[in-house]
Amino acid sequence: METQQKTEIYSPGLEGVIACKTRICQIDGQAGKLYYAGYPIEDLVHHSTFEEVSFLLWQQRLPRQDELEQLDKMFKETRSLPAEVLQFLELMPHTSHPMDALRTVASLLACFDTNLEKSPEANLQRAIFLTARFPTIVANFHRLRQNQKPIQPHPDLGLAANFLYMLLGKEPTADQARVMDAALILHADHEMNASTFAALVTASTLSDIYSAVASGIGALKGPLHGGANEAVLKMLLEIADPANVESYVEQALVKKTKIMGFGHRIYKSYDPRARIFKEYARRLSGRTKFSRFFKINEKLEEVMQAKKGQHGIFPNVDLYSGIVYHQLGIPADLFTPIFAIARVAGWTAHILEYWRDNRLFRPNALYEGPPPRPYVPIEQRR
Ligand code: SDX
Repeated sequence: METQQKTEIYSPGLEGVIACKTRICQIDGQAGKLYYAGYPIEDLVHHSTFEEVSFLLWQQRLPRQDELEQLDKMFKETRSLPAEVLQFLELMPHTSHPMDALRTVASLLACFDTNLEKSPEANLQRAIFLTARFPTIVANFHRLRQNQKPIQPHPDLGLAANFLYMLLGKEPTADQARVMDAALILHADHEMNASTFAALVTASTLSDIYSAVASGIGALKGPLHGGANEAVLKMLLEIADPANVESYVEQALVKKTKIMGFGHRIYKSYDPRARIFKEYARRLSGRTKFSRFFKINEKLEEVMQAKKGQHGIFPNVDLYSGIVYHQLGIPADLFTPIFAIARVAGWTAHILEYWRDNRLFRPNALYEGPPPRPYVPIEQRR
């Protein structure tokens, strides 16, 4: 039987290559538009909750009232960690990067999953458990590394508010909880980004959801991806004053160093999530001592627009998110774990969807090495 010759294309970083089909997320990179299952991100931020958005990503439809109450109940009932996992967190070096702690404990949860079922229903339950527990892992690790006792989840608070409560040791104001919830919605999914693709490659071997999520966490940590928000705050501290922005950017561009918080593989326009974060950052900065960071960012926008705007390099989601988290009293090395707390809903949604019509990811490589040649015994090598 003649095998069908498939056309081979070489695209560095798989740029422009369609790896799979999805009904979960759509991005219009030219227009700067983002939709979760058809709903504009702006509508979801202003009218929805992270719990409802998680349901939307997993089911590609909005929940009925009873379904949302059921999911909320499951989140609340499963967000505590097994005692043994908490003991492991206590033993973990408190100097670990929180993303290393999260990746390790997410993997550890697999060791306590005694359910042998691999059905779509069982895996959706695992997705819910992981999404419920990520905030607890991050908050507990942060308390322990400060030699403070972990705080048990608050029985009445939603996922975003409860995360701030467990992390900072006091109930957030309604406005703080709202901002945190919006931040999680903004980060919940983004189509075939590097960490989602990493998770899918692992899932496509029919490995398990914990291994696939651990792959996603590992990919997200990098400064070209989820690690950029922490890198932006470091950059703002280094620039220190709006008057230094022009020279900072000029020196970086000469050295071909990327300016964190700018540029995107898909958006060749202003990232719609950055617009929303900017307004939260503006409101929270107000007259506070952090308004200097906001002013530096605005000057960065102006300078980068002049130098790189025509190259399609615009602000992305990471430019203002760090200022918002900083205003909420969250340390910079927790910014990427917060990204993961949200994105685990998107990773698991794409994993569950891909498994419905699974195909092993196995691209080719363009060989540029030596031609076939005979082996040379070591005594004849010069
Ligand atoms: C996220 O994929 C997703 O959806 C990711 C994400 C999600 O929600 O999952 O949206 C989240 O990861 C947002 C991006 C966060 N990363 C950063 O802010 C890091 C800084 N950004 C760059 O590293 C870069 O823009 C990337 C990695 C985001 C995208 O880069 P590409 O598509 O690989 O483009 P490239 O590196 O090939 O750059 C093309 C040109 C280059 O110039 P030349 O060599 O052609 O002269 O644009 C330049 C780059 O030097 N360029 C930048 C730049 N980004 C691109 N120059 C200066 N500063 C930048 N930020």
